Amino acid sequence: MASYDVIIIGAGPGGYVSAIRCAQLGLKTAIVEGRETLGGTCLNIGCIPSKALLHATHMLHEAEHNFGSMGLKGKSPSVDWNQMKSYKEDVVGQNTGGIEFLMKKNKIDWLKGWASIPAAGQVKVGDDTHEAKNIVVATGSVPSSLPGVEVDEKIVVTSTGALDLPKVPKKMVVIGAGVIGLELGSVYARLGSEVTVVEYMDAVCPGMDKDVQRGFKRILEKQGLTFIMGAAVQGVEASKTKAKVKYALKKTPEIEEVLDADVVLVATGRKAYADGLGLEALGVKLTERGQIATDSQWRTNVPGIYAIGDVIEGPMLAHKAEDEGMAVADVIGGKHGHVNYGVIPGVVYTTPEVATVGATEDALKAEGRKIKVGKFNFMANARAKAVHQAEGGFVKIITDKETDRILGAAIIGPGAGDLIHELCVAMEFGASAEDVALTCHAHPTYSEAVREAALACGNGAIHS
Ligand code: NAI
Repeated sequence: MASYDVIIIGAGPGGYVSAIRCAQLGLKTAIVEGRETLGGTCLNIGCIPSKALLHATHMLHEAEHNFGSMGLKGKSPSVDWNQMKSYKEDVVGQNTGGIEFLMKKNKIDWLKGWASIPAAGQVKVGDDTHEAKNIVVATGSVPSSLPGVEVDEKIVVTSTGALDLPKVPKKMVVIGAGVIGLELGSVYARLGSEVTVVEYMDAVCPGMDKDVQRGFKRILEKQGLTFIMGAAVQGVEASKTKAKVKYALKKTPEIEEVLDADVVLVATGRKAYADGLGLEALGVKLTERGQIATDSQWRTNVPGIYAIGDVIEGPMLAHKAEDEGMAVADVIGGKHGHVNYGVIPGVVYTTPEVATVGATEDALKAEGRKIKVGKFNFMANARAKAVHQAEGGFVKIITDKETDRILGAAIIGPGAGDLIHELCVAMEFGASAEDVALTCHAHPTYSEAVREAALACGNGAIHS
């Protein structure tokens, strides 16, 4: 048994970042993780492995579709799926190993095993009970279940199984046109699977800017994905090798439709995960959606117990968890911890990428706010054209009509996930679109499209 200033439960991006910040503040820190490797869902079975597969299959797409026109002749590469998976595992290993190094470097103890909290101030791991002045719960989330759909991670899979299929399926049905469905659907479409996405809503990525939703769906359709929109999946019947997905269109709920698939990916959202911690016995309050309820300083109702990341309210994003991890460490260390929830970017790592931040045009209009919208198409951006990623892409900036202050932005196009951060910084500084427009942007870069959209909020873009 050991005694700590802080014990963090869960070593995902929220937990491990929090541990590092606690250690930097001079707090004696331990992190509990039951998985064999650190990094949580993000590094092991989420963001990182999916980005490796997205990169590899994007390269394949380039070889198949664009090499010829650039004068790169020869046979297209064939896919060695096992090699691609071992490349993905290698990327994961490098990153999880990196976190282990950071824990050692910062003198953070890794308590290996699954934690429970027998009482405030105590964390039990295996047979050992440790003392902790402060406990941070950062146990993340798991895929949520869908009635009538039993996941076996072989034929009917969540993102976890989809990252490790034994072979590339001929036919894949994806349930849910959210971030996971579209990223992994893209991967398999590029690998040659016939991918059909069944989505309950009438647009992809619910809640996103409407122009982006429309443009994004068109681009994905061109890449070979088929969409069945306004359709509720009612059940999946699976055998050892195949599955039948039953759904009904909202406009004809009495007619049952059926899709055949070799693999079904269930991507209908995730739910907070805090099983086995003993929160109920401790009297820790949960929200109606089963998340741990916290105040603005990530305190639960039980003194000395904090919670951050996917297990509490807010977008289930690694970077939101990281920000909360740093902020809660600051609070525990007696400093001021702050997260600006109004400026948390969201990125979909397809090709092209999609990135958003702040308020959408529709939400602001619904509020009755007077706004200006500046938009610039990547078709007029020289660099985007040179890399075959101009079509259908744009930058859109929304500002307050009177003050010109940036309220939100949406980008679909090359490097969108990086470009969005110029606008995040601008928003953090309360900048106007004119501030961005007056900033010199290197030529030729994708970022010129951001400047042009900012110019479009004023007297007009130059290249349109
Ligand atoms: P999601 O909430 O983004 O999308 C789920 C979709 O499934 C919704 O469009 C919903 O309308 C649809 N749906 C639900 N029930 C349905 C039914 N019965 N029939 C048809 N459609 C149905 O959830 P997703 O994609 O599973 O992602 C989970 C979480 O992980 C999200 O919070 C997401 O932000 C996060 N994530 C983020 C990534 C990123 O930042 N790049 C990557 C992967 C996940």
